[in-house]
Amino acid sequence: MNRLSELLGMRWPLIQAPMAGAQGAALALAAGEAGALGSLPCAMLAPDAMQRELTLLAASGRPYNVNFFCHTPPEPDAARETAWRAALAPYFAEIGLDPAGIPAGPGRLPFSAAAADALEPFKPHVVSFHFGLPAPDLLARVKAWSAKVLSSATTVDEAIWLEAHGVDAVIAQGLEAGGHRGHFLSHDLSRQTGTFALLPQVKAAVRVPVIAAGGIADAAGVRAAMALGADGVQVGTAYLCSPEATTSALHRAVLQSEAARHTQLTTLFTGRPARGVPNRVMRELGPLNAAAPEFPLATSAIAPLRAHWEKQGKGDFTPLWSGQNASGCRAAGAAEITRDLVAGFSPAA
Ligand SMILES: Cc1cc2nc3c(=O)[nH]c(=O)nc-3n(C[C@H](O)[C@H](O)[C@H](O)COP(=O)(O)O)c2cc1C
Repeated sequence: MNRLSELLGMRWPLIQAPMAGAQGAALALAAGEAGALGSLPCAMLAPDAMQRELTLLAASGRPYNVNFFCHTPPEPDAARETAWRAALAPYFAEIGLDPAGIPAGPGRLPFSAAAADALEPFKPHVVSFHFGLPAPDLLARVKAWSAKVLSSATTVDEAIWLEAHGVDAVIAQGLEAGGHRGHFLSHDLSRQTGTFALLPQVKAAVRVPVIAAGGIADAAGVRAAMALGADGVQVGTAYLCSPEATTSALHRAVLQSEAARHTQLTTLFTGRPARGVPNRVMRELGPLNAAAPEFPLATSAIAPLRAHWEKQGKGDFTPLWSGQNASGCRAAGAAEITRDLVAGFSPAA
């Protein structure tokens, strides 16, 4: 045990990364059974669905992590929404869809008083956030349950800010990581670095434990992060093809193909940069197209295109989230993947 595993109530300082839209309690439970801290991502769950999943986790009697986004919802911007729909217009025409019928609205919800109400009876041992921290009154509620609080930092400045605002540990999220970038102080992506550049600099800047995330896919990666000073690791992409994940068949096929050797950051699916395998819409509109509305408002207009093409078996408009290192993605159970990662906490044989 080290100080992070002690903080998390675990034998090993390994976290199965929360992955909204790609998993529920089943993955967290299977990873938890083999010694990782399982995570439940709640950014795309309504309170009743969240309660159902939490009930399953609580029944295991093991610690678990509950994860939330904590962005400030943007003011809807009619001009930007119009520009976005104009950029997508040829695609609507191609499938004969009238965009007037597509509702606008957020694709992801931030942590809120309603979410805290739903969470409170469960008093989870760990709560992690992405995009900073919630408002002080909401954070105080979480801390009042004695939950340990984690959040992602993509720069040294963000790690220092998080420590100053009361986190118990910082997740140093390197640029390799799959899914959304967790930045919240600056939107300048050029300030962000790879995991092995970020980790030692964050370690030198904060006193709380530091968790390395991004590009870690096997025991050797775990060992390397620990050798570089990490107090623990968080792994996401490597779990995406396990049977307990809810990753679609289409997405799994891409992750296990040569296409997964190339990933890009894109704002097209939500409005915030997130890493995934390039597809048709990313190639044709450019992955960071300025017309995409602010997070999380970009999702609604592209959703019917995604649904249409997925029915034809095509991921042309689907977010194919993946980290830069998908080499750990395989159709093995989450417990087996976890045991392989845990081997990285022991010296190489
Ligand atoms: C499909 C997918 C969805 C993700 N969703 C979330 C999320 O809901 N909340 C969060 O804090 N991080 C999310 N992440 C980021 C992970 O927490 C973590 O930073 C990342 O997976 C680590 O890098 P790796 O994918 O290279 O292992 C997601 C990552 C992926 C691949």
